[in-house]
Amino acid sequence: MGNIVKKLLIGLVVGGALVGLTRALEFPLMFQVMFFGQAMFGAALFILLDAPPVKSMGGAKSVIAIVVFYIVLCTVFVSGASMWPQFDPEDEKGKIAKILEPKRKATEQGKAEELIARAKALDEQVKALEARLKGFGTEQMAKEPPVGEVPAGPKAASGDFMRLGEEQWQLQECYNCHKLKGEGGKKRGPELDNIGSYLTVDEIKQKILDPKSFMATGFEKEWEKGKMPDKFKDVMEPHDVLMLATWLSTFKNTSVNTPVPVKKK
Ligand code: HEC
Repeated sequence: MGNIVKKLLIGLVVGGALVGLTRALEFPLMFQVMFFGQAMFGAALFILLDAPPVKSMGGAKSVIAIVVFYIVLCTVFVSGASMWPQFDPEDEKGKIAKILEPKRKATEQGKAEELIARAKALDEQVKALEARLKGFGTEQMAKEPPVGEVPAGPKAASGDFMRLGEEQWQLQECYNCHKLKGEGGKKRGPELDNIGSYLTVDEIKQKILDPKSFMATGFEKEWEKGKMPDKFKDVMEPHDVLMLATWLSTFKNTSVNTPVPVKKK
């Protein structure tokens, strides 16, 4: 009897400690009760282990005993389990949907706002380009019309070189070494956003066809080693070189530190 009381007391102490701990960790009440229940279950088990052994049974009696034990166990288990709050999946789905709904709406709104902002930025880019084209049409085109090689009419030509020039930039992979409009580069060659302030169309053409013809200030080593490939004269059509050079000559962004080219040939 004393033994049973002792084990019960140990169970209560352990259970109390567990409840204190789970409470400190802000577990829900249900979990605190569950931990206490576990401790008491443990105590009961140890008390049961000390119980005097059951007399050995045989035959039909033992079979009945097992079946009864099984029924009791199942009843305890099932009724015990059904005492806990039950989860209805549909109920839970509804709750989750309710939580997610405002978030989804928020992101949809965010997406729409982002799209509008992007459209605005694009619009500004187009305007800037138009402004640059206007400036280009009056000074550069008037100064040095690329004889014979550009299709008739300055308007058709300007539209063409803007498209074809950039196309060549991508095709010849100049961006592998040169940063332009903040893209590409990997620091191998100079940023070219202000090249139009230093070189004319013809000079850029010369640089592409013969990289040794000009040297970017501060890139002496690279120039000497011939880092800029000397292959474009072989792989590009003259018209493509012209388009690329004309397009590049429109870049006059003085806020970018394009190194000053020095004529070498
Ligand atoms: C493998 C790297 C590499 C590739 C590809 C490359 N370049 Fe260069 N480029 C350089 C380096 C390095 C320099 C600086 C040294 C020099 O002037 O040669 C340079 C210099 C230049 C300059 C002079 C810049 C200045 O401020 O003086 C121009 C213009 C230029 N490259 C245009 C192009 C064009 C157009 C293409 C594509 C057809 C191209 N590059 C492809 C490496 C490259």
